Amino acid sequence: MTENHAAPIDPSLDLEAEILRLKKERNAVLLAHYYQMSEIQDLADFLGDSLQLAQAAQKTPADVIVFAGVHFMAETAKILNPTRTVVVPDLTAGCSLDEGCPVDAFRAWRAKYPGAVAVTYINCSAAVKAESDYICTSSNAEKIVRAIPADKQVLFAPDRNLGRHVMKATGRELVLWAGSCIVHETFSERRIIGIKERHKGAELIAHPECEEPILRMASFIGSTTALIKHVASSPNKTFIVATEPGVIHQMRKVAPDKTYLEAPPDDESCSCNQCPHMRKNTVEKLYLCLRDLQPQVDVPADVRARALVPIERMLALS
Ligand code: 13P
Ligand code: SF4
Repeated sequence: MTENHAAPIDPSLDLEAEILRLKKERNAVLLAHYYQMSEIQDLADFLGDSLQLAQAAQKTPADVIVFAGVHFMAETAKILNPTRTVVVPDLTAGCSLDEGCPVDAFRAWRAKYPGAVAVTYINCSAAVKAESDYICTSSNAEKIVRAIPADKQVLFAPDRNLGRHVMKATGRELVLWAGSCIVHETFSERRIIGIKERHKGAELIAHPECEEPILRMASFIGSTTALIKHVASSPNKTFIVATEPGVIHQMRKVAPDKTYLEAPPDDESCSCNQCPHMRKNTVEKLYLCLRDLQPQVDVPADVRARALVPIERMLALS
C-alpha cells in the first residue's frame, strides 16, 4: 500500500470533467458502491453491491481500476486482477467488520473447530479471506451455505447478524463470529415504530446486517441491489430504508414517484446511519487518485494466491 501525498488541486478545474477525461486517458474503469455520495455514483462506469462489484472487477479489461468503496472491496479487485493498478480515493476507508476480525484471532477461532468449513463475509481483510474456505456477500450467503454438505459444521464470520439471518433462512446451525457493522447496529426499533405510525402503509426494508429486532419487523431483507430492485417492483409507495442512505440515490432513479424515509439511529443527534468509511471518499480525492494513480492497493503474492481460492469458489457459485 502507498500513501498519497498529493500536489494541490488547481481551483479552476471542473473536477467532474477532469475525472471523465482522466478515466479515458488512463483506460480506467470507475467502480462504485451504492453507499458512495451521489456525485461519485453519478460518475461511475459501474455501480453495484459487493458481489456485482467483484464480478465487474473480474471481467474488466481496463488497465486501471478505480474503486470508490472501502478497502476490502478494492483488495478483492486486486486479488482478482494482480497485474492491474487498483487505486482508491482514500486508503483509510475501512470497515468495522474487517477491523473486528483480525487474522490471528480468526485463525485461533478456526482452530477450535477442526474439520469445519469457514464461510466468510467479503467484508474482511485479504489475510482473513486467505484463511477461509468460501467467501460470500449479503446477496449469496444463503446459497453458499446451502452448497456445503449437510454433515459439515459451518463457521460464519465476521457478521453475526447476517449469520443469524442465514441460519433462519436455511435452518442450519452455524458457529458465528461475534462481529457487527457500526452502521447497521444503530437503527432504532422504537423510532421505526414511530415512523410507521406517522406514515401508514410505509414498508420497512432492511439490509441483513441489521440487528434481529429490525430484521423481524422488516417485510423485505436483501443486499443493496436487492433493496433497490424491491422498491421498483413493490406496489408500495413509501419505504423506510434500514441501510446506509447512500442507496436512496439509486432508489430515486429507479422509482422516482415513491417516498424514501431513512431508518433512524437510536441517537437522534448523530448521523450514524451514514458509513464513516464509505463517506471518506470525496470527488476531490477521486480526482487525485486518478491524476496521481495513488494511493494504490496491493496484496502480498502469497496472501493473494490463497485468498483467490475462496473468492473464485464464491464467484463460481454465484
Ligand atoms: P452489499 O453487499 O449489500 O452491497 O453490502 C455491502 C456492505 O458493506 C453493507 O454494509
Ligand atoms: Fe463496513 Fe458497515 Fe460501512 Fe458496510 S456500512 S462498509 S459493513 S462499516
